[in-house]
Amino acid sequence: MSNSPVDSGKRTWLIASGCAGAVGAGFVAVPFVSTFQPSERARAAGAPVEVDIAALRPGEKLTVEWRGKPVWIVRRTPEQLAALAKHEAELADPKSQRKPDELTPAYARNEARAIKPELLVVVGICSHLGCSPSDRFQPGAQPSLPDDWSGGFLCPCHGSTFDMAGRVYKNKPAPDNLEVPPHMYLSDSRLLIGEDKKA
Ligand code: FES
Repeated sequence: MSNSPVDSGKRTWLIASGCAGAVGAGFVAVPFVSTFQPSERARAAGAPVEVDIAALRPGEKLTVEWRGKPVWIVRRTPEQLAALAKHEAELADPKSQRKPDELTPAYARNEARAIKPELLVVVGICSHLGCSPSDRFQPGAQPSLPDDWSGGFLCPCHGSTFDMAGRVYKNKPAPDNLEVPPHMYLSDSRLLIGEDKKA
């Protein structure tokens, strides 16, 4: 005796209802997007984002979204800034000369890659295949990093490493430094990301 006609019928129904669910989810997403407020739509399209950095303390990082991308703001400590000069020979592009128009605005083509040396502003997306690197601010030996690590970021996808200025180390899958987005300071505590005409 065989139950196979029943079993195969049941299986067909399960597959069909799975597909119906997927189509339903697609239809749900459209009205959800259309409920965005005008300001949210402008933001998604690339409007500048204003950030209050008053509470950001040395050694801390803030992440904001701009054009759908994570932008990191790090207030570097004097020790982290001092370390930048010590490992230049190990970096692929220490002076940020590659793709300058794309990756490093003129006002950030310096060792700290910043307008204000203590404040790093970079897009947190790896230049290899687009993963978001993890913070590895603590200097010294630790898993997946060299013993003389001086603090920075580690991309978990394929092991690219970046220093505390978002500069990529040599001989890693990522070819380029992290992108410094257009930005400017409106005051000591207000940062505008996405616009830099007055910078
Ligand atoms: S995506 Fe970062 S190393 Fe590959």
